[in-house]
Amino acid sequence: FILSLLSRLSFSNITALAPMVRVGTLPMRLLALDYGADVVYCEELIDIKMALCQRQVNDVLQTVDFVAPDDRVMFRTCEREKDRVVFQMGTADPERALTVAQLVEKDVAAIDVNMGCPKEYSTKGGMGAALLSDPDKIEAILRTLVAGVSKPVTCKIRILPSLEETLSLVRRIEKTGVAAIAVHGRFKEERPRHPVHCDYIQAVAQAVSIPVIANGGSLDLVKSNGDIQEFRKAAGASSVMLARAAMWNPSVFSGQGLLPVERVMEEYLKYAIRYDNNPFNTKYCLCQMLRDKVESPLGKQVQSAQTNAEISEAYGLQDFYRQTQEQLQARRDAVQSGSRPDRPVLDGDVVTMPVRFERREYPPQITPKMFLLEWSRKEKLEQPLYETVQRCQDRAFQSTVTVAERKYRSTLWEKSKKFAEQAAAIVCLRVLGIPEGRIGEEDSGLVCKRKREAKLNGAADEEGSKKRHVAEDQQEEEPVQRCQRTAGV
Ligand SMILES: Cc1cc2nc3c(=O)[nH]c(=O)nc-3n(C[C@H](O)[C@H](O)[C@H](O)COP(=O)(O)O)c2cc1C
Repeated sequence: FILSLLSRLSFSNITALAPMVRVGTLPMRLLALDYGADVVYCEELIDIKMALCQRQVNDVLQTVDFVAPDDRVMFRTCEREKDRVVFQMGTADPERALTVAQLVEKDVAAIDVNMGCPKEYSTKGGMGAALLSDPDKIEAILRTLVAGVSKPVTCKIRILPSLEETLSLVRRIEKTGVAAIAVHGRFKEERPRHPVHCDYIQAVAQAVSIPVIANGGSLDLVKSNGDIQEFRKAAGASSVMLARAAMWNPSVFSGQGLLPVERVMEEYLKYAIRYDNNPFNTKYCLCQMLRDKVESPLGKQVQSAQTNAEISEAYGLQDFYRQTQEQLQARRDAVQSGSRPDRPVLDGDVVTMPVRFERREYPPQITPKMFLLEWSRKEKLEQPLYETVQRCQDRAFQSTVTVAERKYRSTLWEKSKKFAEQAAAIVCLRVLGIPEGRIGEEDSGLVCKRKREAKLNGAADEEGSKKRHVAEDQQEEEPVQRCQRTAGV
């Protein structure tokens, strides 16, 4: 416990990469750390979306991924930033905020709540700057988080219309037990081009005893690393957070002086390739760094690229791209041959494995369920029995199949009941070592053989094949238990 207290991230005297939607993904955060940022915030992630994510260790990229039901990686992080990354969420609900914070807490250094973003995607549903007019909600969210997670909790606010209101809010926030407050020195209605109100930040820093992180100085105050200290002084805060100055050139964090943005873009792209960053996100960040050069020949090439490989060509980094892909492939091979991720695990009385039913891996009209049914008949067992449940949050399905009084289930949730049943059948077949009908699999003599016979005998077998389908259809009729409460997410 003492060790965990000692290793808690400190927010005093730090320079941070501010949270920025689309900009604050893993490559930018790692680059900011390389150049000297002490703390890096991720982009704001909305609690409702995060609550649906599954935490997955990615052995190939050596990252931890939080993956949405549609397989999109919502948040990717890695060991290198573990003690430095702050997870910022958009929330208006204490319980949901806690669910998400607990989902990510062991992979991040702190949890932050966005209370300053005036954009519609954030304010709708009462999140972001909308929270500023609901201090009771602010208090409830922060108290719940402080009590429920082991990592420091912080929040990022904008200033309120009067100094008194601002000070009374931050005093209330301080009492919730948060570790720091980031203050963007602009009113909710002000745009990024308006001057920052350093006098408000200064007054906040004097009013509370927790660290205050000054923000809002990118446009007129911070052009280079030397200016950071000036901004710190002007705002009277021990810490500073940079958004746009870092987005335009993250080497602003470097004490060695600003690097040419061309070099910085190359370094950024290398991280994007290494961590398989979404190419549209990669393009977006590069375009922010290109700024007024976005219509240059390089800018146009970046804009028309569709993949990280094509973006690499624009920067002459094809060799780096190829070598990185080779390294990743080697790791993929090692992971697949070494540890067997498909080793079954007992969950109560159910044998589980993380498998998905990929339709393209099976010939048309052949499914694992058919194989399991045929095998059960051959073994004179009762017909496999499928029980399916549906999860409330995302309406995904999970099926358990009972064969010879043993239960089998995939730990992965599927988009349809049919797919969930196929996944359960695959688990059963793999555990029992029975062929499942995949393309390229050795001929098992089960369904394939009967299909062949059907072709040879024509109508003679039609009756039998109809029966099989009837049996399967009957299985499809198993009811779904809806809106199951699931542990964790
Ligand atoms: C592209 C972009 C995305 C942003 N996204 C977020 C966000 O996700 N969460 C947040 O609290 N603020 C967000 N902001 C606001 C910044 O964190 C910061 O408060 C603001 O830009 C002022 O700081 P600056 O003068 O250093 O740019 C964003 C700003 C920009 C430019």
